[in-house]
Amino acid sequence: MKLNKIILDNFRNYNNLDIGFDKDIVCFTGLNGQGKTNLIEAISVLGLLNSFRTNNYSEMKKFGEDYFFISGDFVDKNDNELNIKISFSNRKKKVIFQDKKVLKFSDFWGNIPIVYLIPDESIITTGPPLERRKFVDKLLSMIDKEYFSLLKNYTKTLKQKNRILYSFKKDNKFQPEMIEVYNEQLLEYGTKIFKKRIEFLEGFDKFFKDILLFISDGLFSGDISYSSSMDLDDYQNDLKKQLSENIQTEKDRGLSIIGPHKDDLVFKINDNDLRKYGSKGQHKLFLVALKLSEIKYIKSITDEYPIFLLDDLYSEIDEKKSGKIAKILDKDIQTFITTSNSSIINQFDVNNTRIFNVTEGALTLQ
Ligand SMILES: Nc1ncnc2c1ncn2[C@@H]1O[C@H](COP(=O)(O)OP(=O)(O)OP(=O)(O)O)[C@@H](O)[C@H]1O
Ligand SMILES: [Mg+2]
Repeated sequence: MKLNKIILDNFRNYNNLDIGFDKDIVCFTGLNGQGKTNLIEAISVLGLLNSFRTNNYSEMKKFGEDYFFISGDFVDKNDNELNIKISFSNRKKKVIFQDKKVLKFSDFWGNIPIVYLIPDESIITTGPPLERRKFVDKLLSMIDKEYFSLLKNYTKTLKQKNRILYSFKKDNKFQPEMIEVYNEQLLEYGTKIFKKRIEFLEGFDKFFKDILLFISDGLFSGDISYSSSMDLDDYQNDLKKQLSENIQTEKDRGLSIIGPHKDDLVFKINDNDLRKYGSKGQHKLFLVALKLSEIKYIKSITDEYPIFLLDDLYSEIDEKKSGKIAKILDKDIQTFITTSNSSIINQFDVNNTRIFNVTEGALTLQ
């Protein structure tokens, strides 16, 4: 997928921007606070309908204005042109894809695949299990509609069950048969979610191992494995057993504590747990390898490369390794890079590169 042209009206610190992209490696450089990340954000909103910075569209409106409008012209691998327009005014979002109004965002997801890597995402390797589940859930929801609906149903049922558990705790009442009804549904959805996650990991881990070895110049081997309180070889039966054994505990806690919403991924680097023993640079490289593998995985499933958005990647990565990253990106993957140090761009093929200077919401070609 390639982005050929973008229009921004009243988006963040941009008044009117109408700009075309004719290369695969696009670099936005400039001083702090000029609008580099805002641009990347706009591209991510066009593809995902969500911002990585906020759930609140009104924050993206230029200060003092009452609407914003953004539009993107994309072209897919078969040279089909795709246009998306997003506007926000009077607290209402409107999304038009191929001249048709998008009524449900989830119906649109996957049409314009985007992978981004922003500094805040270091939390994927350093943070709690929720962040790693979110990484997998977001990726799979994007490319597998069935996974998306399983997850939606699972989450909805879990919420209902939690509400009941909480009310039992509060009112000191207890009707285990009500919990059993929810548990049956959670067992069904939960087992399917687990199976899809395992199937995903098998394919993903292969890409990941190769990429981490490559970008670390053979220094770091990586491994990703699934971790759960359930027996992975007999997940369904074990989940069933643990759900029923823990009804009383869950009632006492007023919270659902058994199921794939508690599972995790374990990241290892050179056979050691990354979270416990990884250096800062190793965390960063691991994260980069996760994102590059995401790109390769999406390509393997959908036959389309996503667009890659890289915000301030290069701070903790040495030159040798960033050169390796450039080698992976140089072919076919359109990549938008923000950086205050435009010398990193020398690592890319000069014929395939465009550099823009960003100053107070305006772009000039370097
Ligand atoms: N809704 C908005 N309306 C107008 N300006 C905004 C809005 N939101 C953010 N800004 C401005 O945009 C600027 C930040 O832009 P951005 O995050 O893109 O900077 P940057 O170029 O990536 O900087 P850095 O190098 O520090 O990451 C700030 O000056 C901020 O005040
Ligand atoms: Mg920035």
